[in-house]
Amino acid sequence: MKVLIVGGGGREHALGWALRHENPAVRLTAAPGNPGLHGIATLLPIPADDIDRLAEAAVSGAFDLTVIGPEVPLALGLADQLRARGRLAFGPSAAAAALEASKSFSKDVMEAARIPTAASRSFTELAPALAYVDAHAEPVVVKASGLAAGKGAIVCATRREAAGAVRAMLAEGRFGEAGRTVVIEAFLEGEELSVLALTNGEELTLLPASQDHKRLGEGDRGPNTGGMGAYTPVTPATPALLDRVRREVMVPALEELDRRGARFQGCLYAGIMVAPDGTPNVVEFNCRFGDPETQVVLPLLEGGLTDALLRVAEGRPAGALAVRRGASVTTVLAARGYPDAPEKGAAITIPDQLPEGVTVFHAGTARDAGGVLRTSGGRVLNVTAVAPTFGEAQARSRAGAEAISFEGKVWRRDIGWREAARR
Ligand code: AMP
Ligand code: GLY
Repeated sequence: MKVLIVGGGGREHALGWALRHENPAVRLTAAPGNPGLHGIATLLPIPADDIDRLAEAAVSGAFDLTVIGPEVPLALGLADQLRARGRLAFGPSAAAAALEASKSFSKDVMEAARIPTAASRSFTELAPALAYVDAHAEPVVVKASGLAAGKGAIVCATRREAAGAVRAMLAEGRFGEAGRTVVIEAFLEGEELSVLALTNGEELTLLPASQDHKRLGEGDRGPNTGGMGAYTPVTPATPALLDRVRREVMVPALEELDRRGARFQGCLYAGIMVAPDGTPNVVEFNCRFGDPETQVVLPLLEGGLTDALLRVAEGRPAGALAVRRGASVTTVLAARGYPDAPEKGAAITIPDQLPEGVTVFHAGTARDAGGVLRTSGGRVLNVTAVAPTFGEAQARSRAGAEAISFEGKVWRRDIGWREAARR
């Protein structure tokens, strides 16, 4: 079986690693991939947003399946192109990917389907947006509607700060195209959960729920990022809560998309804020596997991922996936300056010996002409540890993260702090 993985981050390395692990005979290609994928896949130097060349490569290479990692090629219609050309793709159509690519569309879907979420309104004009902020309770959340690599949501303590964020988006164009529409919404209290499900648009297979750490700094301070670390399992994600997420969030979202002629085939990601009363409020939907959530969730699967992805691509239910006992924690090593202006080019040293159960997934790394591994992006490496208990996984991930060095390494030593406090 020949599989093409589109993307080159930690998520795609974890996908390739999991497919290879369970299925040594699979022939993997990654476009563009990264140095971590190099050993397990053939790399095709095509950027993940060049969907015409990617579609061409999938057809000419006669791939049995293309797994699309990032949101950008999905939003640009790579899955549509592949299906139109008779290739199997794991990932939604552009119409269904709008659930992530347009927060204003996503809010519209949630409202129509009565999915619990923060009250909100969308604006393209400055004056009515400022008037709405002016009458809003504090805190208030201002979001660029379009794709902003996880950095387009600004949680504002005051109306004044919110007005500044609205101006930055609508008047100053600081978020580019993504900020031409803003979503202004109420602040949600609670604990965040990432719930990922494989779906053919109708049946859902939930993956183990995980918790991301969006803020750059320890203690959940500083700016929002794409995610600085994650862990699974998460104690509040009880079977009863996940059942509510399935019934009150995911099924209605799929049904509403279907009604709009946008069947969702791929990985549906619901970012949930569990309210103090237990309501699973949706913070956001994503149309793909989470990053870094994938790096903790996939290592806990017993196997069967290849088959599940293939079945979804064929329009069939993913089927059940067995999950191992134990826990998984990943710590992100980022470059100095992330998320605004990450530095590149620092030489990376990864020791040969890392703690037991640790796997290092590459994200923003590149090899220079001399073969030296260097930083090349904001999130550089993910240090995932799987262990029988949460405490051991946390300690090993942290020790692994400590042992890897590069100039300007930025990381959080407190990944899983909420879970640790519960034990
Ligand atoms: P988003 O890009 O919508 O996922 O938002 C990024 C992050 O900002 C989320 O993961 C939350 O941590 C935070 N956030 C977004 N919307 C809200 C909200 N309405 N209330 C509280 N926090 C939020
Ligand atoms: N970790 C958050 C995301 O994948 O969007």
